[in-house]
Amino acid sequence: MKTYDLRSDTITKPSEGMRRAMMNAEVGDDVYAEDPTINRLQELAAELTGKESALYVSSGSMGNLISIFLHAGQGREVLCHKDSHIIHHELSSGSALAGAALVGLEGARGKLNTAVLEAAVRPDPHNPANYDLCRSGMIEIENTIAGVYYRRNELEDISAFARVHKLPLHMDGARLFNAALASGMSVREIAAFTDSVSFCLSKGLGAPVGSCLCGSREFIAEARHIRKMLGGGMRQAGIIAAAGIWALENNVERLAEDHAGAKKIAEALAGRSWAEIDSADVETNIIYFRTTGQDSKSVVRMLASAGILGGADGPGKVRLVTSLAVSSEDIDEICGIISEL
Ligand SMILES: Cc1ncc(COP(=O)(O)O)c(C=O)c1O
Repeated sequence: MKTYDLRSDTITKPSEGMRRAMMNAEVGDDVYAEDPTINRLQELAAELTGKESALYVSSGSMGNLISIFLHAGQGREVLCHKDSHIIHHELSSGSALAGAALVGLEGARGKLNTAVLEAAVRPDPHNPANYDLCRSGMIEIENTIAGVYYRRNELEDISAFARVHKLPLHMDGARLFNAALASGMSVREIAAFTDSVSFCLSKGLGAPVGSCLCGSREFIAEARHIRKMLGGGMRQAGIIAAAGIWALENNVERLAEDHAGAKKIAEALAGRSWAEIDSADVETNIIYFRTTGQDSKSVVRMLASAGILGGADGPGKVRLVTSLAVSSEDIDEICGIISEL
């Protein structure tokens, strides 16, 4: 039986062209900043995001952790959404390693807004009356979060709030290119609202490993030290950075196919008695639906028995993700299978 892997967009494997680029990569010792391929990737990432500088890091988690180290640091609070990746899926590294407190806030569809930030931000620490209060250290937003992207006005509001309160704003842009595509904004326009932004090469962009952390020259110079401290100095890593360059040059525009595929699957699901979904809520490549009459694990088992691999996200919620691991023909086949389940 054919299987269709919709568990995540992290499951993609490097294509022939990407592998050739890796094989031919010029390399050097990146701890001495002498790997020409990494240097080229970092220049490209800085250029795309409009930031002064960028650093190649081994993972999205490392990019977020470094930003927490530098923007918040010991004893300061990171204001983020309660559903964010840094809260649930990074083993509390921001607290365990950077010493910051992650504060999970409410907000519709995974997004922060200025009302919840206003209620959470700590008062002026320099006022003696507040000497024993925690201190806010930074704001972190995830874009996309659960496949949902921030609108321009939402970014404007949060960024203005951050400036007024003198809080650095970091964006976990693991799927920044999906957010750009869906919002009609460029990556550079989105990044302009932030002090630092990271994006993953290893998700929808299809590279086997790596993320880029982008920010001011000073921030990235410091980030390089923290990366080394975390064991992230990778020497001749141009071999893998070459895949990242190839991904940025070849796999960005095709994200539109993933978005269109996710929408089609959502529409197919909308007709089933066991799924509750509004296809209009599917904005990029991640589909969430509520299960009706069955728990999510049994729905995931039912889908798997028909060849469709997905994931249960809590008792009543299932997640499916499109990526270059599933072609548009696959999507049509998936929709056909779903309509018969
Ligand atoms: C939103 C988000 N942020 C960060 C990460 C972390 O990326 P990595 O797995 O490369 O550490 C992920 C990974 O799935 C993610 O989905």
